[in-house]
Amino acid sequence: MRKENEFNIWNSYNASESELLKDVSMELAVLKSLDVFTSAHVQGVAKKVGAMCKKMKYSYDDTKECVIAAYLHDIGKIKIPPSILQKDDSLSPEEYEIIKKHTVYGYELCMEYKAFKQYASSVRAHHENLDGTGYPDGLKEDEIPEMAKLLKVADVYDALVQKRQYKDVTKSSEALRMMSNDVKNGKMSRYYFEVLVLVILDELYEKNTAYELTILKYQNELAVLRELEKIYKEIYDKGLNSKLEKKLKKFELAPGYDMSTNASMILNKQKLLDRDKAMYESIQEEIKEIKGLKKYKMND
Ligand SMILES: [Fe+2]
Repeated sequence: MRKENEFNIWNSYNASESELLKDVSMELAVLKSLDVFTSAHVQGVAKKVGAMCKKMKYSYDDTKECVIAAYLHDIGKIKIPPSILQKDDSLSPEEYEIIKKHTVYGYELCMEYKAFKQYASSVRAHHENLDGTGYPDGLKEDEIPEMAKLLKVADVYDALVQKRQYKDVTKSSEALRMMSNDVKNGKMSRYYFEVLVLVILDELYEKNTAYELTILKYQNELAVLRELEKIYKEIYDKGLNSKLEKKLKKFELAPGYDMSTNASMILNKQKLLDRDKAMYESIQEEIKEIKGLKKYKMND
């Protein structure tokens, strides 16, 4: 049986340290050192690919293959001059042509290792479009390896939502809206796109369940603090008597805890509650927008 910590493809965080990628660990390390955005991007794509494979109920071995391909997909960037790769401004047409070569460089690198030959064609084709407008070979539909179609969806999404040196974060719903246009225009796989939408929705639901729990926790804690506030107010109005003293004792307060401590506790807790409620609301909004996208725009 497979050991749990061996290679967790579903979460795929440690894949770069795994035995499976030992052969290219040098290249992956170089890729990591090139710029922090590329390194975060590779991790992000691998994570999404792992989650998509899980959604599609791929076998362990198939998932492993896809996740490794995700780790390798931009490996050719180690041959791109850092001055271009890390450029803050937009690229000139000549520089863009150089960047595009990372697909072919990646292919060549994979072909050098026996264990990675099987990924070479997908690495090469991860920027191809179904309608033949992609690069480097202008492949169409079935000419594009299936894995490359999957990689492309995860790659484009991650590039859109991650912060880069030249752009800010794009919201998930906005990224998916942009991608749905590529699907409609016949550039991107509809199937893998829909799988990605399901994965993103799962992630958002999971986040919101976590927020629901913290909101509940803060609400309960605030209710206790408000009860205390009432007692303090009574003490302030009537002075401390044995009945109020008894009530206070129930709370098992720390020494030195008083009315003003309680007031600042309420303020802090309310802030946390408001923050989480706002996060919850914005995620709900995201979910609504993504669902709208799925219902009305993807299937037309
Ligand atoms: Fe790429």
